[in-house]
Amino acid sequence: MPILTDPLTLATGSVLQNRFALAPLTNQQSHDDGTASEHDLHWFEQLAGGGYSMLTTAAANVQTNGKSFAGQLGIYDDRHIPGLSAMAEIAHRHRTLASVQLHHGGMFARQELIGSEALVGPSDNEETGARALTLPEVEQLRDDFITGAGRAQRAGFDGVELHGAFGFILSAFLSPQTNRRTDLYGKNPEGRSRLLREIIQGIRAGCGPDFHIGLRLALSGQDPHLPELRDLVAVFLERGLVDYLDLVVRSLDTRVEGGLHTGEVLVDLFTDLPRGTTVVGVSGDVMSAAGAQRALDHGSDFVFVASGAVVHHDFPQRALADHAYETPRPPLPASFFRDQGRSPAFVNYLEESLGFVQAQ
Ligand SMILES: Cc1cc2nc3c(=O)[nH]c(=O)nc-3n(C[C@H](O)[C@H](O)[C@H](O)COP(=O)(O)O)c2cc1C
Repeated sequence: MPILTDPLTLATGSVLQNRFALAPLTNQQSHDDGTASEHDLHWFEQLAGGGYSMLTTAAANVQTNGKSFAGQLGIYDDRHIPGLSAMAEIAHRHRTLASVQLHHGGMFARQELIGSEALVGPSDNEETGARALTLPEVEQLRDDFITGAGRAQRAGFDGVELHGAFGFILSAFLSPQTNRRTDLYGKNPEGRSRLLREIIQGIRAGCGPDFHIGLRLALSGQDPHLPELRDLVAVFLERGLVDYLDLVVRSLDTRVEGGLHTGEVLVDLFTDLPRGTTVVGVSGDVMSAAGAQRALDHGSDFVFVASGAVVHHDFPQRALADHAYETPRPPLPASFFRDQGRSPAFVNYLEESLGFVQAQ
């Protein structure tokens, strides 16, 4: 069983110096045009000194109509490269690997942020008002993910993580609930995962074998299509299609409710799958040193710290120094976050959208 101080080598040859990675954390502090702000750089500098083996940026949108958060980081234009370069430089100065999370909100993009552009998804969606992408638009989306990865590489990042979770566009393509296409990009599991596979192939072809590709997927114990997702992960692991998986669970104790695997521990269903060169990280409720070690004991190779990093940006250093370390649990006073150097926009997001801030 690995321990938290063990290094971990990716198939690209890059080495994670320990088992702590930073999860993607939206913070709404980029400029309106998606370029990184001083606040982005300050936050990355704080994190980079905090002991993570790999930092992930906030979700960065690859097309303008994928924007889902005010102050979202962008990667849809070359003008984003200088700010991203500064972020990559910060990570590398601290000997930390760095990934950009490539994102498109799809039907969960925000109309007020995308102006007259249409909300889009794999199929028409009555609830959100999104319309189905045409075939040329799917191909353009694929190409824009690949171009986004190229920009991340030009900016000096070691790799990218594809955002395939939370109903955003790549996960919407994977799900039979939201993907009812009858063309090549739908119809059956092969079709529903085609967009993702073509993006991965394109990034490999364009960025080469040293540039890592991660994939984030969210696991839910109540997902009626869990077996299809598990089959997809099994194929990805068997073929080594990505260098790492970032599997999001609510908790390590979450169990499957309904269907074939009822009662089984959700995360184990995925960490038990045979894996070749792909390493598997778990994100969810890593708020203590013991919690992180438990994730490794459940078969993950490394952990992604999210809420824990918002509370203490140097979570890994603290956890590596003290086996009994545990973060305070939000909600916490706004002054707690301000005193740690979080920007006003970030604190506002934590308060308004995430319930991280105590009512006065
Ligand atoms: C402030 C905040 C911002 C987040 N932003 C993103 C994001 O940009 N992309 C993403 O995939 N997940 C995002 N998440 C989800 C986290 O990466 C993580 O998977 C989730 O919070 C579960 O881990 P935790 O229980 O340790 O917080 C965010 C979570 C928080 C708290």
